[in-house]
Amino acid sequence: MSITTRAAVCRAAGEPWEVTDVEVDDPGPREVRVRMVAAGLCHCDEHARTGRSPALFPLVGGHEGTGVVELVGPGVTRVRAGDPVILCAAPVCGSCRFCSTGRQNLCERGRETATGRPADGSARFHAGGEDLGAVAALGTLAGHLVASEHSVVPLREPLPMAPAALLGCTVPTGWGTAVHAAGVAAGDTVVVYGAGGVGASTVIGARLAGARHVVVVDPVPFKRERAAAVGATHTVATAAEAHAFVADTTWGRLAEHALLTVDDLDDAVLCAALDAVGKTGLVTVTARGDGAVRAPSGRIIGFQRRIHGARFGGARPLIDVPRLVSLHTAGRIDLDQLVTRRYPLDRIADAHRDARDGTLVRGVVVHDQEAAA
Ligand SMILES: NC(=O)c1ccc[n+]([C@@H]2O[C@H](COP(=O)([O-])OP(=O)(O)OC[C@H]3O[C@@H](n4cnc5c(N)ncnc54)[C@H](O)[C@@H]3O)[C@@H](O)[C@H]2O)c1
Ligand SMILES: [Zn+2]
Ligand SMILES: [Zn+2]
Repeated sequence: MSITTRAAVCRAAGEPWEVTDVEVDDPGPREVRVRMVAAGLCHCDEHARTGRSPALFPLVGGHEGTGVVELVGPGVTRVRAGDPVILCAAPVCGSCRFCSTGRQNLCERGRETATGRPADGSARFHAGGEDLGAVAALGTLAGHLVASEHSVVPLREPLPMAPAALLGCTVPTGWGTAVHAAGVAAGDTVVVYGAGGVGASTVIGARLAGARHVVVVDPVPFKRERAAAVGATHTVATAAEAHAFVADTTWGRLAEHALLTVDDLDDAVLCAALDAVGKTGLVTVTARGDGAVRAPSGRIIGFQRRIHGARFGGARPLIDVPRLVSLHTAGRIDLDQLVTRRYPLDRIADAHRDARDGTLVRGVVVHDQEAAA
């Protein structure tokens, strides 16, 4: 028996999210139905809404969150009804070539979730006889959703469900960008471009990895202030200021790492990141852009600089998400610092306006006030 729930839906690329009733199927084999508690508003949703990343419209928004398993389909082994879970943008099947060699962020199931629908192309959300896609084949901006068991991570330690919603993409991606993808080492000088939810989490990762200088570039004063609160050692408005600081503080050797976590990657910020790192320096690209980016080959070759991409920050959901939970429990990181404001689903438009205005590090949509408290 399908159920009806409220969800933020985008009807076509570039249209705004609108809150409407949708039907949710029962879970099929190896699927679970989750009653959502909270959802994080990561910028990947915006790339999906604007058509910059693959999406099937009409589209249910949201690819990270927390909830409680309500119903399990046949063959589910990872969780049971009643379990609190994190809905994770990166699925983990546990047995593909990448999962079985320690690279869960590259699980082959990721290709399916990127299309926004289960592997067979069917849909789990419907409205007025029409099938709906969902960001990362999740759709955490719905009150209930059906997901593959591969996309859920059991929450084994008690944790407030609103900040925990950011453990589905924002925090592991940002933290992992520094800790796993870049491999920041004790004493390194690191420049982080863009201090939204992902960038602020990158700062947390770089500090925990022992970086000497964590320089943050963001044109928005509020983002710089919040970045300093989570551990940035130096914050500036422009890439030129970051370059000057890094050149000065390293006696011209420049930074070991540039970490790109801006909302929209472009040539200018990629070139600035290349300029900021010294010989054999590494530029880690987590940010998505609108198509191709260009950089002069001479700048790459001369200092033997390196550029590489990072999916989910190289973090392994089944290992690193519980690890981040226990770092929060131990007081080593504070997830609450990343949540600027909470919104009911009906105020999703306000949340997006605030994100555009630069007044949020991260907004969280709360579906269930009581459970999120
Ligand atoms: N690779 C992955 O697996 C993965 C996962 C999650 C998010 N992402 C991507 O990471 C990026 C960041 O996501 P987010 O949710 O933190 O975005 P966000 O919108 O919350 O924050 C982006 C920040 O970048 C700043 N910014 C914009 N242009 C800048 C510039 N030229 N220099 C310095 N700062 C600049 C903005 O002021 C803002 O504070 C997005 O592109 C998102 O799609 C990638
Ligand atoms: Zn995301
Ligand atoms: Zn896999």
